[in-house]
Amino acid sequence: MKINNICCIGAGYVGGPTMAVIADKCNYLNVNVIDISQKRIDDWNNDDLDKLPIFEPGLKDIIKRRRNKNLFFSTLIKENIESADLIFISVNTPTKNKGIGAGMASDLRFVEECARQISKYAIGHTIIVEKSTLPVRTAQTIETILNSEINSKNKRNHLKSFSILSNPEFLAEGTAINDLEKPDRVLIGGHDQESIKSLVEIYSQWVDIDKIITTNLWSSELSKLISNAFLAQRVSSINSVALICQATGANIEEVSKAIGSDSRIGKHFLKAGPGFGGSCFKKDILNLVYLCTYFGLPEVASFWKNVVTFNSWHKENLIKIIVHKLFGTLVDKKIIILGFSFKSNTNDTRESPSIFIASQLLKEGANLVIHDPKVNEIQIKKEIENFISENDHQNYPKELPFNNNSWQFCNDLDNSFNDAHAVIILTEWEEYKNLDWRKISEKVLNTAWLFDTRGILNKNIFKELNLNFWQIGTSSESK
Ligand code: UDX
Ligand code: ADP
Repeated sequence: MKINNICCIGAGYVGGPTMAVIADKCNYLNVNVIDISQKRIDDWNNDDLDKLPIFEPGLKDIIKRRRNKNLFFSTLIKENIESADLIFISVNTPTKNKGIGAGMASDLRFVEECARQISKYAIGHTIIVEKSTLPVRTAQTIETILNSEINSKNKRNHLKSFSILSNPEFLAEGTAINDLEKPDRVLIGGHDQESIKSLVEIYSQWVDIDKIITTNLWSSELSKLISNAFLAQRVSSINSVALICQATGANIEEVSKAIGSDSRIGKHFLKAGPGFGGSCFKKDILNLVYLCTYFGLPEVASFWKNVVTFNSWHKENLIKIIVHKLFGTLVDKKIIILGFSFKSNTNDTRESPSIFIASQLLKEGANLVIHDPKVNEIQIKKEIENFISENDHQNYPKELPFNNNSWQFCNDLDNSFNDAHAVIILTEWEEYKNLDWRKISEKVLNTAWLFDTRGILNKNIFKELNLNFWQIGTSSESK
């Protein structure tokens, strides 16, 4: 089947950049990205390309080239589903927060809603592609909803037939455009060979055919969960090694290099840090854990669960180190937090370690100054408030965090270090590497500490400065 019109339901971190690249590489296609959020669509249509809803290097240029040519953003759900030959489902799949599987299983209500919208409006034969990360066998749910409409006596629609494919996205935020333009592989799972061929044809416009892997539906759905679980496990592994380095005098950079040079291990994803964040890792592992439990594999479930448990403990441990170095109390101490996004080159803060760490420091009574080059004040406020309200809010001082001096957004980094007790680097933004640490060391208090939880600074420069230096995975504490 020749595809001319594509519709993507969901204009988020995955849907937006992915469709932008498809439109750019296949200018014969019409690509319509739809969303229920008018605000999100307005942001995608903003003339000022610096106000797109997502910051992603390289994205602006593509939007400039393709928007309103063959790439359209709108809330016209009915019209765009009607005209689509192929529909990507790219909506959010958060972890369920109540009922059976709460805290573990994926909440599929947005996916279910998409299936209902498709069953209502799609016309003729339609290919449906799962782009969001979904629990294994979600395709069956979509199939059931669509079949019930097709076979209904009171048939309301014009959908004649459909096929479902799984085409998980492996892009990482911050490098999304590069990952989409030069993917390691494209994975397409399905049972209908004709539909698979149609999707392969789209990707083959810019991806080598030998990088396009086709599998059955369930293998594709499972591979996405497992890829993220493996990656997250590597981060937890290297963070655990960082602690062994701190205890023994080994150095995490050296150990990472030494083990990563073994081609069987590989050099990527061996950077110790404050713990993994982002919208996928925790959610996907918990989803996997739920799946294992469901299928009667408790030992397998517990193996993967530990990756998440360790990640949480690792962040708590960082707090302990900070409190200990600051003489056991943070009450009324000025602490500068550098970085709020979950990694550099993105404005995404979902599951960012900074949320937990900042909230805990507030709980200890610290006065925080929080800086991030791409995350704004409103976003930071929302994340901290949500975290506190979902967690033990009674343990936070009454008017926290915003009605007194305990938290402020930093607009002017150069002038914020005066009399600080500590500076904590939580995101590896390039600009933090290039700060004038000599000048900063003259502004902070004499006993101040700099905590480099990302291992981005050269510890040698701190030997002569008036700043105590702590770095993840090293035992050197130099003055
Ligand atoms: C991840 C997967 O990489 C991607 O394939 C999938 O589609 C979505 O989930 P993302 O969450 O955007 O992508 O970022 P990623 O680069 O994987 O980083 C995840 C977290 O791990 C970040 O908090 C990052 O700082 C941390 N990390 C990563 C480390 O601490 N050390 C590393 O070596 C790598
Ligand atoms: P991801 O990181 O997976 O892309 P996001 O939360 O960034 O997740 O984006 C998902 C988008 O899907 C949101 O903008 C949300 O408004 C949109 N969405 C959810 N359900 C629907 C729906 N039924 N129809 C259209 N858009 C939807």
